[in-house]
Amino acid sequence: MSESPPDPMDPLALVPVVPVVVIERLADAVPVARALAAGGLPVVELTLRTPVALEAIAAISAEVPDVVVGAGTITAPAQAQEAVDAGARFLVSPGATPRLLAGMHATGAPFLPGTATVSEVLAVLETGQQAMKFFPAELSGGTGYLRAVGSVAPQARFCPTGGITPATAADYLALPNVGCVGGSWLTPAPLVAAADWAGITDLARAAASLRS
Ligand code: 3PG
Repeated sequence: MSESPPDPMDPLALVPVVPVVVIERLADAVPVARALAAGGLPVVELTLRTPVALEAIAAISAEVPDVVVGAGTITAPAQAQEAVDAGARFLVSPGATPRLLAGMHATGAPFLPGTATVSEVLAVLETGQQAMKFFPAELSGGTGYLRAVGSVAPQARFCPTGGITPATAADYLALPNVGCVGGSWLTPAPLVAAADWAGITDLARAAASLRS
């Protein structure tokens, strides 16, 4: 792990693979974050999909300050400020409605709105924002889609997420309009349930080496 935390102002530049994490048991949050950082991925996108998600963000923020923790699965505007208040340093949404964009922008935190069509990409660019998530990446056209969008909107920069695997991540990372990919494969539910932190560190190490 680097001595100084990476710059959270550009979520696409932090790491090649952003771990998309679901925490069911609050006690798992800090060891998961530490395990990912030990493998070279000092970033967590903690998804707001469980009742303990905001507490998990707060715990990582307080106890593992070298890890850049963000909130994922922002689907309602009010969640954006709640997540930042809990300690999230970046925000990720699967979509990009005008109200979601406004809610995330109002926090002042960097954020990645989700896009899957050219019109959505253009709508986000119209707001002055160039960084965005591409979701669900595999189902929405994968690397071929991103190449096509790159020819009409080259200023858009993506974090593709959804269906990406260790085998396909490098193909995405090779594209000029991809800064990082997101994926849940770093923290499989069985490893988290078994408290297999070394196993998570191994997965993180392999992912961290995808772009060297
Ligand atoms: C997300 O929220 O970004 C996706 O659910 C992660 O997709 P994956 O589980 O296919 O990696």
